[in-house]
Amino acid sequence: MRKLTIAIDGHASTGKSSIARGLALKYGYIYINSGSMYRAVTLFALENNLLELLDQNIDLFIEKLKNISINFKFNKNNLISEIFINDRNIEKEIGSLKVSNLVSRVAAIPKIRREMVKLQRNIDRNKGVVMDGRDIGSVVFPDADIKLFLTASDAVRANRRHKEMIKNGITVSLDDVLNNIQNRDELDSSRSDSPLIIDKDAKVIDNSNMSIEEQIDEISRLIEEKATN
Ligand code: CDP
Repeated sequence: MRKLTIAIDGHASTGKSSIARGLALKYGYIYINSGSMYRAVTLFALENNLLELLDQNIDLFIEKLKNISINFKFNKNNLISEIFINDRNIEKEIGSLKVSNLVSRVAAIPKIRREMVKLQRNIDRNKGVVMDGRDIGSVVFPDADIKLFLTASDAVRANRRHKEMIKNGITVSLDDVLNNIQNRDELDSSRSDSPLIIDKDAKVIDNSNMSIEEQIDEISRLIEEKATN
């Protein structure tokens, strides 16, 4: 089968990364969660007291960003591609509400997007790639073989993310999670640089009432049809 590039975009907390990870494992593709890259930059800004630079001197912030490396390492024990800043695994930290509440502001800055998109396009696509985010089908890989747009009701998304955060030991209320999701959708869809849109070639999946397995089955049919034609 031909190796494909699969772009998964969509609203906050629609299970994009679970679907993308499942597909990558099934087909032996590389999986990149582009959202964790924006979250990593946000964590870097928070931990190094650089938030002021985001508004006042973005060029200096970008210079500082160049001193760190952001990369993914596959963890064979949990089958997750975990994100690192230099040699530090930050997979857990980037899931905090503090990072979630700031990330859309950071991700709206064009110079930061340009750096992230460069890293995202650096990947070797010959092995097959699944990437999830907000602008993958529209900006990062407009030539993707399959483009998906995931959505679900606000309540379903908030419940899923709340459960996940509690499981990861993060104390947070359902209301705060819901507010965060709605605020991020609003900011991500209204920013001027690479807003979240439904690309004209994207297949929209409302997964409010679908399991991960059902979605993987449905997308697998698209992949197998495309890869054998
Ligand atoms: O919470 P969820 O898994 O839905 O979000 P995420 O994929 O971790 O992305 C976090 C935030 O990063 C989004 O709300 C966007 O502000 C930003 N992002 C983006 O602007 N472009 C991308 N390609 C991916 C994420």
